[in-house]
Amino acid sequence: ADITRIRNFSIIAHIDHGKSTLADRLIQQTGGLQAREMTEQVLDNMDIERERGITIKSQTVRLDYKASDGLDYVLNLMDTPGHVDFAYEVSRSLAACEGALLVVDASQGVEAQTLANVYQSIEHDHEIVPVINKVDLPAAEPERVKAQIEEVIGLDTSNAVLASAKSGLGIGDVLEAIVKYIPSPKGDRDAPLKAMLVDSWYDPYLGVVILVRVIDGVLKKGQQITMMQAGTQHLVDRVGVFRPKIEIVGDLGPGEVGFITAQIKEVAQTNVGDTITDSRRPTAQPLAGFKEVQPVVFCGLFPTDAADFEKLRDSLGKLRLNDASFSFEMESSAALGFGFRCGFLGLLHLEIIQERLTREYDLDLITTAPSVVYNIHMRDGTTRELHNPADMPDPMQIETIEEPWIEAVIFVPDEYLGSILKLCQDRRGIQKNLTYVAGRAQVTYELPLNEVVFDFYDRLKSISRGYASFDYHQIGHREGDLVKMTIMVNSEVVDALSMIVHRSQSEARGRHMCERMKDLIPRHLFKIPIQAAIGGKVIARETIAALRKDVTAKCYGGDASRKRKLLDKQKEGKKRMRQYGSVDIPQEAFIAALRMG
Ligand code: GTP
Repeated sequence: ADITRIRNFSIIAHIDHGKSTLADRLIQQTGGLQAREMTEQVLDNMDIERERGITIKSQTVRLDYKASDGLDYVLNLMDTPGHVDFAYEVSRSLAACEGALLVVDASQGVEAQTLANVYQSIEHDHEIVPVINKVDLPAAEPERVKAQIEEVIGLDTSNAVLASAKSGLGIGDVLEAIVKYIPSPKGDRDAPLKAMLVDSWYDPYLGVVILVRVIDGVLKKGQQITMMQAGTQHLVDRVGVFRPKIEIVGDLGPGEVGFITAQIKEVAQTNVGDTITDSRRPTAQPLAGFKEVQPVVFCGLFPTDAADFEKLRDSLGKLRLNDASFSFEMESSAALGFGFRCGFLGLLHLEIIQERLTREYDLDLITTAPSVVYNIHMRDGTTRELHNPADMPDPMQIETIEEPWIEAVIFVPDEYLGSILKLCQDRRGIQKNLTYVAGRAQVTYELPLNEVVFDFYDRLKSISRGYASFDYHQIGHREGDLVKMTIMVNSEVVDALSMIVHRSQSEARGRHMCERMKDLIPRHLFKIPIQAAIGGKVIARETIAALRKDVTAKCYGGDASRKRKLLDKQKEGKKRMRQYGSVDIPQEAFIAALRMG
């Protein structure tokens, strides 16, 4: 394609502001798909993504558009993942574009997530076209939202387009604005090949599919390519584009976006952000901004039924084929038997994998307390990374422990600000900034990641009735007074419940854990002490009284069906329990105990 007629853009939007609907409209209007094929949103293509309404894997689509100037244009829409856990992938997709559509719901206005993505987009020197969506809603206030965009983001809205992705209103204007305001890419066709690996995924028919953006040179079938960061070589066997259906093309030139396959078996062999070049005539410099993705949250996954261990290994292997950003290695626990220590980009990522294992692979799992990665400086001068509280060395040999910190930006309506500040304060937060914009507060906090991984996001949403939005990035490790807290049930340590906590929080956390466990563990025929301890010192305790009579006694002998229900419930509970010494602990207890009330 003629480089001056190419437009590469992404869509920035807060969840639910209409990104997928708009993308579908653009595809439909440019003839990518017939109306009858539009029954489902095409860009979000995984079940869980669709159900949760989030976009995980990026997709891209090439649209042919004849503009009002009579010329033919190629528009490449790069979809970006919509969650903070996938920030690096977002940054690479953005780096592959020259501009962005900023979609803002005309009835909701700008949200924190939107802001973070806009700033990133601005950092990539993007031309940003505001699209005020959902103007069909009675509550739409396009003028107010425009003013808010100018005030909050400092973006000129004189070229903003008013649209309704739902009704189709303004979609033609959006296409015209893309051609008019977003610059064409620059690149040299005669220079050595330089292309960015934007994304990769596993396809059962094609093997690993690599999404690329060509910067300079030409990418062709039969070419020997080198991945400069990985240091590997491959032979290109297919070159194509998505419309959104696959179409094979002769080559991809400068500025173009498309895919290649090269007989690669696992996505783990491909790194997002890597530079692809011609092995015979390599480019001198790899692209800037490459980063190795590192999991930040770790937890243990154990099958409830020990016989499922191989099935779990198999399923993790299959998931990993398509998601190189999570890791797993075998781990054994005294009480839970054999399982895996897994690493994730964040809690949402953890939940997605856990859900897929349960749902698609039909596994019953126990998930241990999520933990972040601590740096431990030992007295002997060595440093080690701690991924699992169970591996905590003897405190006598530890010089200092460092924990990861994040900077969080929270955007919240004024009336909930007080409770949000309290939440951050309770989680050892350090307030950095607080500003008011258009009736909303924007507050910036530095927080320890381990205070955020458990339930911070849920708490934030519940105390703000869903109105607060939250975005974060890591800002490095800092020293902290951290200790390992163990939970003992009937005098036995339940290693899956061990956690690293800040000393100042340990008593409250310990008390809370004991109280929760007391509620979650059913009564037994004997008395069960539950204790939280640091080192050898007990800091909290509760006791579950012994079972005196038949459980059904509390139904007053009356209603037979209620009695049966209770017994059934017990039976159901039975198979989802783990035995610790002589005590049965229900599966829910492991995660439920971690949520702070
Ligand atoms: P994520 O995929 O979760 O990031 O959301 P999204 O930004 O892609 O939003 P999506 O396109 O799924 O739209 C969210 C909801 O808003 C859906 O119920 C859409 O039908 C609705 N919606 C999208 N555009 C419009 C619009 O112009 N008007 C109205 N009334 N509703 C819209």
